[in-house]
Amino acid sequence: MQFVEANDAAIPALGLGTWELRGRSCARLVEQALRLGYRHVDTAEIYENEREVGEGLRAAGVPRAEVFVTTKVWTDHLAPYEFERATKASLARLRLSEVDLLLVHWPNPRIPLAETIGALCRMKSAGFARHIGVSNFTVPLIEEAVGYATEPLVVNQIEWHPFLDQSKVRAACRAHGIAIIAYCPLARGRIVDHDVLAGIGKAYGKSAAQVSLRYLIQEGAIVIPRTAKVERLSENLAIFDFALSDDEMNAIRALAHPRGRLVDWSGGPGWD
Ligand SMILES: NC(=O)c1ccc[n+]([C@@H]2O[C@H](COP(=O)([O-])OP(=O)(O)OC[C@H]3O[C@@H](n4cnc5c(N)ncnc54)[C@H](OP(=O)(O)O)[C@@H]3O)[C@@H](O)[C@H]2O)c1
Repeated sequence: MQFVEANDAAIPALGLGTWELRGRSCARLVEQALRLGYRHVDTAEIYENEREVGEGLRAAGVPRAEVFVTTKVWTDHLAPYEFERATKASLARLRLSEVDLLLVHWPNPRIPLAETIGALCRMKSAGFARHIGVSNFTVPLIEEAVGYATEPLVVNQIEWHPFLDQSKVRAACRAHGIAIIAYCPLARGRIVDHDVLAGIGKAYGKSAAQVSLRYLIQEGAIVIPRTAKVERLSENLAIFDFALSDDEMNAIRALAHPRGRLVDWSGGPGWD
């Protein structure tokens, strides 16, 4: 597994996304992913699957220290007391004493960011999280958050795939040593039949999905594709045995367009 370095963290470059995975099938997919070689799992309190993610982790039998587990505190719980309560509840559901990465899931303009970032940093110093970061933060929010943080922020988890240009927020993060975790790295399946991606993949015997993931990895991102299909776990993992050329990377960069966003953060909870 390849790692991405960010401030004081080394993060496995590929993880399993788990949004919408529920119940026994969630636990089974997490277990299977770890058996296949995944070493990073992404969940959140709002996904209502932390219990099953924890079951999958234990069933796989991989030593705890080898698996990078991320969870996120939902936007309703960003006031300091709520933040700590939500973090402890997530740990109890996962049956872990600490997560590897704890994120603010989504900014909430009704709660002062200084208070939220203060609470996030305290979760690290209290030993509930090895590393901390944010998600869905814009350039101004990143700058503000870095100013308040007393512990290093290691990632901003944002929507990113070939149809979306994220160069501005990426540059702001890079300036502070913050890595990008790309969510929706398969554009929620919309990459599957794309001519350019499929065409590039043909030369390597790879699918459009694998080309999309490889593109993001070569751009320096960490990717967390989700699948509910066991056979696709292996497909999404097989992205470290080929490399895209500069011309191919440029052809994929050219697919970004202004309406490429799938998850609308301007309309996110708490935004007026
Ligand atoms: N921080 C945030 O606010 C935020 C927001 C959204 C997502 N996330 C995280 O990011 C993860 C990934 O994003 P996402 O789940 O929204 O979208 P995604 O990973 O881009 O796409 C998932 C979709 O792609 C399909 N798929 C998976 N592998 C495939 C393959 N090899 N070929 C063709 N289709 C494939 C899946 O269908 P099948 O199940 O049928 O394979 C599923 O419908 C989430 O699960 C979650 O952990 C975070």
